[in-house]
Amino acid sequence: MSEKLILEPGPHLYPVPAVMVSCAAENVSSSNIIAIAWAGVLCSSPPTIGIGVTPARHSHRIIADSEEFVINLPTREQVDVLDYCGTVSGRDVDKFAESRLTEVAAQKLQWAPLIEECPVNLECRVVRRLDMGSHELFAGEVVAVHAEEDWVDDAGNLLPRADQLFAFLRGRYHALDEELGRRGLSSR
Ligand SMILES: Cc1cc2nc3c(=O)[nH]c(=O)nc-3n(C[C@H](O)[C@H](O)[C@H](O)COP(=O)(O)O)c2cc1C
Repeated sequence: MSEKLILEPGPHLYPVPAVMVSCAAENVSSSNIIAIAWAGVLCSSPPTIGIGVTPARHSHRIIADSEEFVINLPTREQVDVLDYCGTVSGRDVDKFAESRLTEVAAQKLQWAPLIEECPVNLECRVVRRLDMGSHELFAGEVVAVHAEEDWVDDAGNLLPRADQLFAFLRGRYHALDEELGRRGLSSR
């Protein structure tokens, strides 16, 4: 083991996901997509996921207005489009049109659309908001889940496909190639 150094405090939780969050609201002309890495599961029941959004983002206003958003899981092939959605603002461009992505109406939400090309879509309704500082936490209850057939097992459970999903590690996208074992592997 090498000696440990003391670093500046930072949000150094690795790995994190990188997802495409789609949103829309009554008084906004087009639906929008924002790349989000500050996303995490907050609760299993009710299923709740939190996203951290900077108030300056166009998407912040949309999600605050509509109180809903959709988390779309991108595949490895979509890393480029995710990055694009995290580089330009919906104030300047229509990201659905520019990325040639398709909006599909959600089942339970009124405004936020799904991204058809992403294999998994989680419809979320905002249940809590918390100003954290640089980012505001929107806690969204998952009210509907959509998944392509080959992402679902015979029992109807979502298959988190490691061959397709990727993670984000301080500014870099990484594939998830190697399984290390099943939960419970430590029981003797
Ligand atoms: C991989 C990646 C992850 C990002 N994660 C976040 C995040 O968690 N929260 C946030 O507010 N912005 C995040 N951003 C920045 C926004 O996606 C970016 O500012 C985007 O252009 C905002 O779009 P909008 O103005 O249309 O909402 C991320 C960008 C990238 C590329």
